[in-house]
Amino acid sequence: MKDNLILDRHRADEVNDILDDLVEVYLDAHSGDGEFYNESRYRQQLAGHMKVAGWELVTARIDGRLAGYAYGFPLPAGTRWWSGIEEPYPAGFTEEDGRRTFALSELLVRPAWQRQGIARALHDELVDARPESRMTLLARHDNAPA
Ligand SMILES: CC(C)(COP(=O)(O)OP(=O)(O)OC[C@H]1O[C@@H](n2cnc3c(N)ncnc32)[C@H](O)[C@@H]1OP(=O)(O)O)[C@@H](O)C(=O)NCCC(=O)NCCS
Repeated sequence: MKDNLILDRHRADEVNDILDDLVEVYLDAHSGDGEFYNESRYRQQLAGHMKVAGWELVTARIDGRLAGYAYGFPLPAGTRWWSGIEEPYPAGFTEEDGRRTFALSELLVRPAWQRQGIARALHDELVDARPESRMTLLARHDNAPA
């Protein structure tokens, strides 16, 4: 892990100044992954997610530059997060009340900084301080690093 890595936590009302940087890191981390990973869709996703109560971001900076970040939010009652879940699953597994489950929506590290423990550090920083009792992350089956 880099000695000069700085991790910071941010709420939604604190990130307007770095929105463009967040988008740039997303596009960099997903370069070559296909059309889905485009700027306009991601800006819409971010804007939508940032409205969810309890949204939180952790940034990783090295020498002041944004190397990666993780963000997520607690799943509200009535969320569509679990739609499409494969059966069988335990009774009550998909019930949410805004306090039960933290959804880790994005975990991104710029290619130049990957394989140095930054994602692990981001993950632990974000998740360790959350009050929810469980966490969920959606990833494609073939995404080994995730
Ligand atoms: C997934 C991602 C965030 C990992 O970032 P990273 O900083 O390189 O990860 P770390 O260095 O913290 O590695 C964490 C663990 O994953 C493993 N890992 C990382 N990259 C890997 C790879 N390409 N193949 C296999 N394992 C890998 C590491 O060995 C490490 O395990 P260990 O601590 O037991 O050794 C990064 O690859 C990325 O941004 N990918 C594109 C975006 C994405 O797919 N995000 C996840 C879905 S939301």
